[in-house]
Amino acid sequence: MTEHTPFSSFDEAKAEAFAHRLVGALNAGALSLMTSLGHRSGLFDVLADLPGATSQALADKANLAERYVREWLGVMVTSEVVAYDPTAQTYRLPPEHAAFLTRAASPNNIAVTSQFIGVAAAVEEEMLARFQDGAGTHYHHYDRFHEVMGEDSAQTVVAALIDHILPIVPGLRERLEEGIDVADMGCGGGWAMLHLAETFPASRFTGVDLCADAFDAAQTEARQKGLTNLTYTQQDLSTVEQLGTYDLVTAFDAIHDQKDPQGALDLIFNALKEGGVFLMQDIGGSRDLQVNIQNPFAPLLYTISLMHCTPISVGQGGPGLGAMWGVETAQEFLTRAGFGQIEMLRLPHDPINAYFVARP
Ligand SMILES: C[S@@+](CC[C@H](N)C(=O)[O-])C[C@H]1O[C@@H](n2cnc3c(N)ncnc32)[C@H](O)[C@@H]1O
Repeated sequence: MTEHTPFSSFDEAKAEAFAHRLVGALNAGALSLMTSLGHRSGLFDVLADLPGATSQALADKANLAERYVREWLGVMVTSEVVAYDPTAQTYRLPPEHAAFLTRAASPNNIAVTSQFIGVAAAVEEEMLARFQDGAGTHYHHYDRFHEVMGEDSAQTVVAALIDHILPIVPGLRERLEEGIDVADMGCGGGWAMLHLAETFPASRFTGVDLCADAFDAAQTEARQKGLTNLTYTQQDLSTVEQLGTYDLVTAFDAIHDQKDPQGALDLIFNALKEGGVFLMQDIGGSRDLQVNIQNPFAPLLYTISLMHCTPISVGQGGPGLGAMWGVETAQEFLTRAGFGQIEMLRLPHDPINAYFVARP
């Protein structure tokens, strides 16, 4: 029998490489948080507008304190996001970087998504306590969740609705032009319904969400625009006996963190009119951890799941399926709700989510 100690196979080179990776992760984490700050402060937009500017000129244009702007620029230069001319002490955001960091770059502005890092970090204390007692969280624990979610889905959902998402249901655009009834479950910010209500004035739209504050801004905008074909309703889907009846029901990233995901799908199934269709977008991961090792977004998705999706469901008394409930579970739940025809698609504009077209 050969003697075996835990250290007998310690690979120095492997350990060294891992330490390097962890240092890289520290820097990447720092850069993500600073990317969020750069987006929120408008600094990336100003950098793109003023190539070759000093920190003072950038601060003046952004209406910010130069001392802090200079420190932030230190992060961006040493992370090789921003180019620096040491002689002139000026800064430049290369156009290839601006293409993923500025408001003008939307819907490809990855700085928008970086805000989830701050949202997650803000509940670290709360989650540390929840690790101990296993209880859940509630929406009031997250200062900016709905705002960031709305901004993110403005890129992945709203901007893609007409050209990428609606076409996956043949004939849907024509039906919307003629006039149908549409409801969006877990509508959050409510921007998808606002966009559709403006685009298809003959159709009628309803946004449903647990949190009225989530769709407050869209509701105000709809009122200001005089949209009479759009309503928002505050409703807990787990306590509703029956929704209205609709030709199209949508749910964008809104089933897995419900109190009762299966119950919500059952409700949706029962709310469809004859010939109706359910269009669901949800995280396109697998429930098999081993499969997710290949998913380049998996660490981010598990983090958002742990810090938000899972405890939010648990906090409502739900099962806490998490964002990585998996397309396999989604398909099983849809089948259990009664859907007989389920098609799952991946859309090129959105590498994170899967899209399901389900009919009775
Ligand atoms: C991840 S967000 C997605 C929001 C929106 N669809 C979007 O794409 O931006 C999930 C939404 O589901 C809503 N939600 C969670 N539990 C709910 C419940 N029990 N009843 C109704 N809505 C619920 C949340 O308030 C939240 O707005």
